[in-house]
Amino acid sequence: MTSRFDIRSADERFIWHPYTQHGLNQAPIPVVRAEGAWLYDETGRRIFDAVSSWWVTLHGHAHPRITAAIAEQAATLEQVIFAGFTHEPAARLAAELIARAPVGLERVFFSDDGSTAVEAAVKIALQYHRNRGEDRRLVAALENAYHGDTFGAMSVSARGLFTEPFTPLLFDVARLADPVEHDVVASLEQLIDSRGRGLAAVIVEPLLLGAGGMRMWRPDALRGLRDVTAANGIPLIADEVLTGFGRTGPLFACEHAGVSPDIMCLSKGLTGGALPLGATLVRAELFESFRSADRTRTLFHGHSYTANPIACAAALASLSLLDDSCAEERRRIERSHLRAAKRLAGIRGVENVRVLGTVLALEIRADSAGYLNPVGPALHRAALDRGVLLRPLGNTIYVLPPYCSADSDLAEAYDVIAEFASAR
Ligand SMILES: Cc1ncc(COP(=O)(O)O)c(C=O)c1O
Repeated sequence: MTSRFDIRSADERFIWHPYTQHGLNQAPIPVVRAEGAWLYDETGRRIFDAVSSWWVTLHGHAHPRITAAIAEQAATLEQVIFAGFTHEPAARLAAELIARAPVGLERVFFSDDGSTAVEAAVKIALQYHRNRGEDRRLVAALENAYHGDTFGAMSVSARGLFTEPFTPLLFDVARLADPVEHDVVASLEQLIDSRGRGLAAVIVEPLLLGAGGMRMWRPDALRGLRDVTAANGIPLIADEVLTGFGRTGPLFACEHAGVSPDIMCLSKGLTGGALPLGATLVRAELFESFRSADRTRTLFHGHSYTANPIACAAALASLSLLDDSCAEERRRIERSHLRAAKRLAGIRGVENVRVLGTVLALEIRADSAGYLNPVGPALHRAALDRGVLLRPLGNTIYVLPPYCSADSDLAEAYDVIAEFASAR
């Protein structure tokens, strides 16, 4: 007789979880399977994944087309070094991404996740100037930005709770005003006036500052940033790690503003949420500055699993699902969010209700804002008791569901938020 493996005790003894204070947090819930918008625990209890498992799951968990593509690829070619070798899933995926990406992006550099897609983007922008013999080293980034947890990604992210232990070790970045409340284009113009030609790149999360509080900003400001960067020959990096693949409505958030960046970072929904994969798309001009008979102009960057064939196969299957019917599903979720927004805005203590595509966000009034606000864990627990996974950012509450979420699932998430807010 086989004995049942005790997940909880092995987890408690051996695992260090991300973004988890092990001295405080409740024990994690073992999930034994997932399907569609639902996670299932050992007892068969189901939980609606209203945050798409950290913003990655697009078409639902264990989508049959993606799992079939993974199984087939795993049995054919599971992994191969990507320097000196290539393979069909990567070549096809690169071609499919370029076909869908804003015009002008012509090369794909693969990596592992959102942070490494950003690391590669920043390194490409910096070395591009060096390869051309220009001394430009200053990167400009937005207030309240979040670009990941590796050192380069932390450096271009806002300084705050997450980066505080490492602040002295992060490279200096010029800060552009928060585009939600300020004139970010004027802020960039002032920076160019004072720092002139030293500016190497501008990095933004197009239209949605995600981990910085689901702060939504306007397409005309993004357009303005594009115009000013283009006029001054400064590469614009669009970090679409969160916003890519339909999250804000169109395939990429840059499309809201009709903007083509010079570099675009992708991950999260790239594989439909099934496997980790990152991609950094660049304009031909940047790539060409590296192509040379001079080996010192090489991009000396790569990861062991670069362009893993199974992850690429999952991404190809996900892209094929992002068709017209998926666009209609996203519009359905947006309409549902807009109706819910009206209702939630009427609750006392609920502020700043906003919707961008499939993302609904709001604040619950609190004495102190910020990630450590206790509203977050309190709502997280209350929602779990009702079978809904929410993961507020402090007192910022958001719903960011898989595109297959049923209207009734969404209604349950709104109800949980409404009841929690009303009871305060
Ligand atoms: C805009 C953005 N960039 C980068 C990242 C980092 O991605 P990863 O967690 O896959 O490293 C995130 C993660 O939330 C993100 O939202």
